[in-house]
Amino acid sequence: MINDKILFEIEQWAKQMLADCDAGHDWWHIIRVRNNAKAVHAIEGGDWNTILLAVILHDIADTKFFDEVESLMLIERKLKEHHIDAEVLDHVIKIIQNLSFSKQWCDTSFTSLELSVVQDADRLDAIGAVGVARAFSYGGHKGRDFYNPAIPPQEYASADEYRNSNSPTINHFYEKLLLLKDKMNTKSGMAMAAQRHQFMEEYLKQFFKEWGE
Ligand code: ADP
Ligand code: NI
Repeated sequence: MINDKILFEIEQWAKQMLADCDAGHDWWHIIRVRNNAKAVHAIEGGDWNTILLAVILHDIADTKFFDEVESLMLIERKLKEHHIDAEVLDHVIKIIQNLSFSKQWCDTSFTSLELSVVQDADRLDAIGAVGVARAFSYGGHKGRDFYNPAIPPQEYASADEYRNSNSPTINHFYEKLLLLKDKMNTKSGMAMAAQRHQFMEEYLKQFFKEWGE
């Protein structure tokens, strides 16, 4: 069992680590993902401590902002420092290693109920109204165009290609965000994704109407 003091200390550390990320990958993202995870876990089950630790720490190893190998070592060290059970620690690390959308291009075979819950919770925060805000926040952070009719959405052949693309932000909806509803792991995650997906469809319709297409 993780007591409140340990949880607080791990949270403070994570908050500090995420301080320089864009507004879509800040501490509020973690709070929203935790709320999503709570709702999914209430129906799907799984070990809550493992889910909670993975949620709190998941973006510290995000390759958009951190060196993955170094970050995983720091996370492991932090969890050991607080005497987190070895089995839980190992599971948390595996979840973090396998969570990202970009892992679809990697040879990963790890699955668990807890990974399913955390991944659905993270993906729910990538879609809907918050998803729109996060996409434009990240696009702005990278200095990307909103939209360019001359640049169509792409199909990427590798994680590196996906990461290094300079596509306009609207393309990201077609390259990732609109695909997520069919990639949810759990029934409850899928149900929660449906309305958020519909909102994005309506948002894009309005965007193109205003653009004049
Ligand atoms: P994961 O969190 O599964 O690793 P990504 O790194 O692809 O997934 O994306 C996380 C979030 O970062 C997205 O949901 C989106 O808000 C933002 N993001 C990532 N890549 C882009 C992009 N090319 N354009 C706009 N937003 C992006
Ligand atoms: Ni995340």
